[in-house]
Amino acid sequence: MSSSTTYVLAIDQGTTSTRAIVFDREGSVVATDQMEHEQIFPRAGWVEHDALEIWDNTRRVIGGALGKGNLNSGHIESVGITNQRETTVVWEKATGQPIHNAVVWQDTRTQALVDSLAQDGGTERFKDVCGLPLATYFAGPKIAWILDRVEGARERAEAGELLAGTMDTWVLWNLTGGADNDGVHVTDVTNASRTMLMDLRTLEWDESTCAAIGVPMQLLPQIRSSSEVYGQCQPGVLNGTPVAGILGDQHAATFGQACLTPGTAKNTYGTGNFMLLNTGTEIVTSENGLLTTLCYKLGDADAVYALEGSIAVTGSLVQWLRDNLGLISSSPQVEELATSVEDNGGVYFVPAFSGLFAPHWRPDARGAILGLTRFANKGHIARAALESTAYQTRDVLDAMQGDAERAGGRLSELKVDGGMVANETLMQFQADILGVDVVRPTIAETTALGAAYAAGLAVGYWESTDEITANWSEDARWSPQMDSAEVERLLRNWSKAITKTLDWVD
Ligand code: G3P
Repeated sequence: MSSSTTYVLAIDQGTTSTRAIVFDREGSVVATDQMEHEQIFPRAGWVEHDALEIWDNTRRVIGGALGKGNLNSGHIESVGITNQRETTVVWEKATGQPIHNAVVWQDTRTQALVDSLAQDGGTERFKDVCGLPLATYFAGPKIAWILDRVEGARERAEAGELLAGTMDTWVLWNLTGGADNDGVHVTDVTNASRTMLMDLRTLEWDESTCAAIGVPMQLLPQIRSSSEVYGQCQPGVLNGTPVAGILGDQHAATFGQACLTPGTAKNTYGTGNFMLLNTGTEIVTSENGLLTTLCYKLGDADAVYALEGSIAVTGSLVQWLRDNLGLISSSPQVEELATSVEDNGGVYFVPAFSGLFAPHWRPDARGAILGLTRFANKGHIARAALESTAYQTRDVLDAMQGDAERAGGRLSELKVDGGMVANETLMQFQADILGVDVVRPTIAETTALGAAYAAGLAVGYWESTDEITANWSEDARWSPQMDSAEVERLLRNWSKAITKTLDWVD
């Protein structure tokens, strides 16, 4: 087969669905398939996924994408994995059976553990080593919770009978053989940087943090770079094809958006919003509530770091309007409903469903709709929901600009991607509220594309990152237009609304 007919396949294991996307050398989508999985909410604040359902869906969407593109494994040179980060699964090495549902990144069940850890040294106790504040968001405490709550699990973990990992590790282990064929138990630096357990400097698990949080090191995967051959797919799914790229989804989007030099940034509008600023090989500690994280590491090259502003609820608020309130019957309808009114009518919606993430890090916050009058209707609620995405992004951008002075200069524009960037009304409002240009790329599938690039670079499908830069092109640009006094008025009200949601949990 000539090399011009081969492709790279990326698996995007996201919060609500799993996708397989086949890319060609130009970074264009050749074929794609997608399956949603169940969101399990056992009680308020808890969110789980069935890891076996996710693995089953992964196999199916790989087959689905190949089928739709009329392709077979011979057409695929390499496989990349990208994933919802922090979502944690613990499983039996001998059988591949999870011992508990996967605990999802949005889940707040580790609050008591996090609080007790913070009693000795505060919420920034581990920040110097791992770049993160103590929060329910991260994977390490989730592993400890599972080990403490499932009978006998801690002893079994210490005896080496269990394996743990984030979804990249779970998918890779199964893809490369699982229980039957000694699957590869590996994660990459970007996913490891979301556990609280990895030392940002050594890129190894930190023994004292693991001990403090209560995670036996023998159940953790080996940490490797984001772009290298980890193993081969086993029969049944892409038999023999190398798996050669892993990046957490936000890091993959940063890579796919060609944010390859210090000072470049992207913002992804997914279930939540995640803004990452490439800070180069320098580890920059935020003074404004951002996370220090890995951006990527290509094989033996030096690791590249990033500052991240994570917002827990943006796109999932639209799903909530659809599923929990029945306000719309499909997510895209939110734009129509929001534009059925002239403005927000004084209504503000703070979607602090998992507390507030960056830059506040207030787990005690809870969601609120404020400014209601008899005038307000469902159009205003939809508008306030959409606007909350833009305001939350402004809060993160302000934090980013504060830190950016020390990390490559202020941002003059923001590259965007993810489902909500199809919403033109929101993108114009976003540019107005940010006061910087908002730029959408031609290839919108930046997350999967980033993982494909990592996998393709490792096997020589792409020669260098110059090709990533060359493949990136601008599709649309929104510049700020709103009167600055109006922007200030909206932001003033937003920040009042935020203060009303704090200290809610008793
Ligand atoms: O940190 C959580 C993030 O990785 C989830 O991303 O796109 O599945 O909402 P997404």
